Amino acid sequence: MQRFVPVLRNDNVDLELISLLNTLMAACKEISFRLHQGELAGILGSTLDENIQGETQKKLDVISNQLIKDILLESGLVRAIASEEEDTIVAGSPSGRYLVCFDPLDGSSNIDINSLVGTIFSIMEVPQGMEGANEQMFLQPGTAQVAAGYVLYGPSTQLALTTGDGVRLYTLDNTIGEFLLTNERMTISEDTQEFAVNMSNQRFWEPAMQAYISDLLAGETGPRNKDFNMRWIAAMVGDVHRVLTRGGLFTYPTDNKTPNKPYKLRLMYEANPMGFLVEQAGGIASTGYERIMEIEPSEIHQRVAVVLGSKNEVNACLGYHNK
Ligand code: F6P
Repeated sequence: MQRFVPVLRNDNVDLELISLLNTLMAACKEISFRLHQGELAGILGSTLDENIQGETQKKLDVISNQLIKDILLESGLVRAIASEEEDTIVAGSPSGRYLVCFDPLDGSSNIDINSLVGTIFSIMEVPQGMEGANEQMFLQPGTAQVAAGYVLYGPSTQLALTTGDGVRLYTLDNTIGEFLLTNERMTISEDTQEFAVNMSNQRFWEPAMQAYISDLLAGETGPRNKDFNMRWIAAMVGDVHRVLTRGGLFTYPTDNKTPNKPYKLRLMYEANPMGFLVEQAGGIASTGYERIMEIEPSEIHQRVAVVLGSKNEVNACLGYHNK
C-alpha cells in the first residue's frame, strides 16, 4: 500500500502544500493516539470554559486545538489559522503562503461516549499581494480551497483528502505511524435510500424541509414510492464519512429553535471543506438554495444550512425548496 506523501507527489501536488498536509497529519496522529488512550490519559470530560460559539469546551477540544495550532504556526508555511476554538484568527509566519481553517475535534459530545469524532480542515492560499495577517484574507468562497479533508478517529483512524482531483482515503497504520492509501477514489452513489438529520428539530424546520422529510418517512406508500432508512451519528464528520462511503443525504437545515441562530454548522471549517470533498466525490453540497462553495463569507465563524450527498437525492430535496 502506498504512503501518503508519495501519493501526493505522484498527484503533482505543490511541494509546500504536501509539506503543510504532512505537518497537519503529525498533529492528527497525536490526537488519534490520545483519543485511543481515552480515560487512561485522564483527558475526557469538560473544561470550565465556553468557546466563542457559546459551547462548553471538552478537554480534548482544547488539547486538539493546541496541538494543531502549535504545529501549524511553527511550520513557517502558514500565514494564519482560524479555528472553531479560537475567537479570532491567529497569525503565523509573515511569509506563509497558506491559511488553514479547522474544527480540531468535530462531534465532541461523542468523546465521553467513546464514539466517532474527527478533525476537519480547509486550506486556502493568501490572496495575491496581501501582507500581514487579518480576518479579511480568510473571507474567500469555498471554491478558493486548494485542499480540504477530515481525519476520522474511529475503530481505525482514516483521512479523506481532496486537493481538487477526486477524493482519496487513507488509513493510519499504527505500527509504522503512516497514513496508507486504502481507497484511490471515493465516489458517492447518485441514488440512495438513506438520510441523516436530527429529527427532534422537525417542528422548527422550514415548510420545504418538513415536506421533503415527511415524504421520505411515508416510504413506499408515499410519493417517493420507496422506503428510506435513517442514521444520525451526531458528528458531521461521521455522517459525511458514511455518505462518502455508501451514499446518502445529510442535512442540518435551517430551523427557528433558537432566536438569532437559524443554522448550526460553520461555513469555513465544516460546510466548505465537506462541500469540497462531496463535490469531488460526485455529490452535491447546498444550503437548500445555493451552492455552499459559492457563498461569500462575511466572518470566520459564520453558520450555514447544509444539505449534501447523493446527487439525485439532494436534487430531490432542492426541488422542494425551489417550489
Ligand atoms: O459541529 C456541530 C456538530 O457537532 C456536528 O458535527 C453534528 O452534525 C451536529 O453538531 C450534531 O448536532 P445535534 O446536537 O443537533 O445532534
